[in-house]
Amino acid sequence: KPNICVLISGNGSNLQAIIDGVNAGKINANIACVIANRPDAYGLERAREAGIEAVCLDHKLYSDRQSYDIALREALEAHQPKCVVLAGFMRILTSEFVEHFSGRLLNIHPSLLPKYKGLNTHQRALDNNDDEHGLSVHFVTPELDGGPVIIQCKVPVFADDNAEALAQRVQEQERSIYPLVVHWFCSDRLKMNNNKALLDGKVLPDNGYA
Ligand code: GAR
Repeated sequence: KPNICVLISGNGSNLQAIIDGVNAGKINANIACVIANRPDAYGLERAREAGIEAVCLDHKLYSDRQSYDIALREALEAHQPKCVVLAGFMRILTSEFVEHFSGRLLNIHPSLLPKYKGLNTHQRALDNNDDEHGLSVHFVTPELDGGPVIIQCKVPVFADDNAEALAQRVQEQERSIYPLVVHWFCSDRLKMNNNKALLDGKVLPDNGYA
């Protein structure tokens, strides 16, 4: 089975879903290591609990983004990962890093891209009175949250929602979608070519698989 590495910054509920998927035989991969940029990321405990190498690469110990990303690249390449899965990794990556892992870098973002790139997506959807919101899984390219979308999932926005309630609704869907996409990638069904996502050799539309 191919090695994958997962990058996190926090709770790690997506990481947990991927761990569970691997353990249930639903993802054709071995999680070689989990790396967090923050020592207090709860996902590190989830990884240790599952017997997975858990590493903190604290960004505060590096003087700049460049040197951090070089250290990160080296830590990842030690495992020869087939893909690197960003699961709530809240750092912007240098274009050098992204180019190095081009075509094997996946991210999950809590909005229906191209809407709401960046932070505070749930609040922004509420502020705009959107009646639907959701998540996108996409390939990472140097354009922040701008790489080709693989799949999106929509959730309704209710009149009495606050950002936490909405985030919870989105995250529930994230936990079922991300393991599936990781499995597609690890079983060679998913590729990136010319800034497009392809599933089973077919170019996916801009809003991903439907
Ligand atoms: C998830 O909702 C993910 O979509 C989001 O962070 C959360 C991490 O939760 N990612 C981003 O905002 C990326 N810019 P988790 O740590 O429980 O998986």
